Amino acid sequence: GPRICDTALARSWVVLLSLDAQPTDGEQETFEEVQHVLRNSEPILEEIQCYKGAGKEIREAISTPTEEFQQRAWHAVLPLVSRLKRFYEFSTELEVVVPKILFQLCSGPMTPTQHLEMQQALVKQFAEILEFVLKFDEYKMKTPAIQNDFSYYRRTITRQRMSSHNGFEHLDTREVTNELANRMSLFYAHATPMLKVLSEATSMFVKENSDIPIENTTETLSTMAKVCLRMLENPNLISQFQREETQLFVLRVMVGLVILYDHVHPQGAFVKASNVDVKGCVKLLKEQPAARSEGLLNALRYTTKHLNEEATPKNIKNLLAA
Ligand SMILES: *[C@@H]1O[C@H](CO)[C@@H](O)[C@H](O)[C@H]1NC(C)=O
Repeated sequence: GPRICDTALARSWVVLLSLDAQPTDGEQETFEEVQHVLRNSEPILEEIQCYKGAGKEIREAISTPTEEFQQRAWHAVLPLVSRLKRFYEFSTELEVVVPKILFQLCSGPMTPTQHLEMQQALVKQFAEILEFVLKFDEYKMKTPAIQNDFSYYRRTITRQRMSSHNGFEHLDTREVTNELANRMSLFYAHATPMLKVLSEATSMFVKENSDIPIENTTETLSTMAKVCLRMLENPNLISQFQREETQLFVLRVMVGLVILYDHVHPQGAFVKASNVDVKGCVKLLKEQPAARSEGLLNALRYTTKHLNEEATPKNIKNLLAA
């Protein structure tokens, strides 16, 4: 039965997680393109994790708006804006590669299980993207300075334009055009910006590939989620993880898949007939130490699309009630 398949896949993924996955010939081209993007994911997570912000300089410049304090705030904000620009640009790179991975994993005559067996290198990359997205958004939520810094930057630019004052050193205007600044504002205004990009890219993929039945995409997502759950439910498999973070990695990926499924499937992840075992996922999360699960439970509570709809069974709503 399918359960045995999932468990066999779960076994092979435990091995996969401890290795550098080797792409097959068919995966090679997409794999390399994605790898080229992913090489920046760790540095970006490190940068957002230690993002300090220019709150102090901005407060001083506002309360004491002298030339000196304003210059000081401006020089504190400029390098931060370059950093925010890099984060934003990274999201646009993900937006490009995610549909390519999905195309490989969801199109053609293979069943979802076969895809997940045969294309493990791409599966692993997709999992790494999901992990990145959830981690980035967790840090973003803990860093209100980001929006504060960026809106100070924009206000200052506007003021400079109006006063045609030339005492300020600009970021190269080609670097952050007004149009780019608008897009960055929208991006950072979102509570979970990377997830938004990922779910929109996935929805767009489904829309633009109308020859691929939507179930082929949602089933690949739900089968991946199932395999994650099988791994995490099985103490034997968990004991084979070589690093402790691997368990957390799989938890994040599972939650990311549930959220994505919920955004892409017309009825979402929470209805009774859903192919995603949301109840199993939530129960498993609740068995984890709170430090591990709280952010992920919140992601399910606040970034899914269908949770609060009438078709969601009461017991699932209760399980997820904060
Ligand atoms: C959808 O998936 C089924 C197997 O689950 C496969 O036979 C079919 O060819 C797939 N369709 C497309 C267009 O990829």
